Amino acid sequence: MNAMLVNGSPHRSGNGMLMAGWLLDDLGPGARGTAVLDLYDAGFAACRGCRVCGGLDGCVLRDGAAGAMREALASDCLIFVSPVHFSSLSAPLVAFVSRMQMLWRGREQDGRAAAGEGGCGALLVSGGASYPGMFEPSRKVAAAAFRTMNREFLGMACASGTDDVPAAENRDARDDVRRLAERIAAWVADHSPAQTGTRP
Ligand SMILES: Cc1cc2nc3c(=O)[nH]c(=O)nc-3n(C[C@H](O)[C@H](O)[C@H](O)COP(=O)(O)O)c2cc1C
Repeated sequence: MNAMLVNGSPHRSGNGMLMAGWLLDDLGPGARGTAVLDLYDAGFAACRGCRVCGGLDGCVLRDGAAGAMREALASDCLIFVSPVHFSSLSAPLVAFVSRMQMLWRGREQDGRAAAGEGGCGALLVSGGASYPGMFEPSRKVAAAAFRTMNREFLGMACASGTDDVPAAENRDARDDVRRLAERIAAWVADHSPAQTGTRP
């Protein structure tokens, strides 16, 4: 499996990345060597809405986001990791998603091909508080991003209440990640070359 983690947490060993470790363990040997993009290090700017780009090659912001987007498009399974920050995804992850405007504007010119075809996406998200619907804004932004990339969004796994109980001790979160891994594994099996009839 060609998977990629996009880490929108400032903590490399925080709740979200711990959940990511569980997910990769659950996915097994096929997920070894999964690339990690740390957005707090990457420092990608938000889209300026200048309307110049017309695709991945034309962005006026030469900060590497277009290359990272290409890598993300090339992955079979793209996993966003984020804390809840003021009810939504973290700012660096929202900034990266905003750069998908390159895909929108490329699509206007080249049709769906500009945004890639296929692949699946998933979200791992944690929040310090615990209240109904607390992950909905994050889920909606992630769903919009994966839709823009023409990917199937397989849903999210969540850890709430991390202010009181870290994800590491949260059994519900562990089970949620396990269920997400099962959905990803089933998706990968369904879309393997043998299933789709594609020659290797
Ligand atoms: C700037 C900031 C904003 C936050 N906003 C929220 C929030 O709106 N709701 C919430 O439940 N937790 C909020 N939190 C807490 C984090 O979501 C929580 O600590 C999370 O588990 C951290 O994940 P990480 O260890 O992967 O970074 C916020 C934390 C920070 C630093």
